[in-house]
Amino acid sequence: MNTTNPIILVLYYSRHGKTRRLAELIAQGIESVPGMEARLRTVPAVSTVAEATEPDIPSAGAPYVELADLAECAGLALGSPTRFGNMAAALKYFLDGTSAQWLSGTLSGKPAAVFTSTGSLHGGQEATLLSMMIPLLHHGMMVMGLPYTQPELMTTESGGSPYGATHWAGVDNKRPITEDEKRLAIALGRRLAEASRTLQGMA
Ligand SMILES: Cc1cc2nc3c(=O)[nH]c(=O)nc-3n(C[C@H](O)[C@H](O)[C@H](O)COP(=O)(O)O)c2cc1C
Repeated sequence: MNTTNPIILVLYYSRHGKTRRLAELIAQGIESVPGMEARLRTVPAVSTVAEATEPDIPSAGAPYVELADLAECAGLALGSPTRFGNMAAALKYFLDGTSAQWLSGTLSGKPAAVFTSTGSLHGGQEATLLSMMIPLLHHGMMVMGLPYTQPELMTTESGGSPYGATHWAGVDNKRPITEDEKRLAIALGRRLAEASRTLQGMA
């Protein structure tokens, strides 16, 4: 790991692992771009009755995000399971704590992309992705999706959208990530890293 490499923050919430799997594929795409590094981070769950009930360090998976990660990143991939056609409260809760970063333009001008996993194929993937873009636009980020030159967008019979990477996990959350979903998630990570690389003025 070269700590001078530009970092793309891959920030996600995942209760049952599917959004996390998409995050890992996006990180794979980011790191396929020379000189670019992915930093996987998550957020703690929130409770309806109390705040900060989680341990300081998650028992498994990526560490919890810190506000410094927003300053240190050169781009952001933001992922959440679909919850009633919207992002999960845990991720929204973290974003709602970023007023200082919003006011100082910490994320302004940095490229961003979004991803989600759903139980049903038409259960709101695109609504979730679009709603996740809104706070990123308020932060001044340059939000990007996938172009139709990516052939899987025309043929996928599972997830995958021009608005971002998606997975159709099924009612029991057990459907495997399909080849099309995998290729599109990797392509989104690669595209984000390439845009960031260009914006950094890297040769
Ligand atoms: C409270 C709640 C709301 C949900 N809402 C939706 C929904 O609107 N549409 C849908 O297709 N799936 C919905 N789901 C299913 C999850 O999006 C799906 O299981 C997802 O793959 C979980 O991702 P994860 O494995 O990263 O936790 C919902 C699940 C929960 C617990």
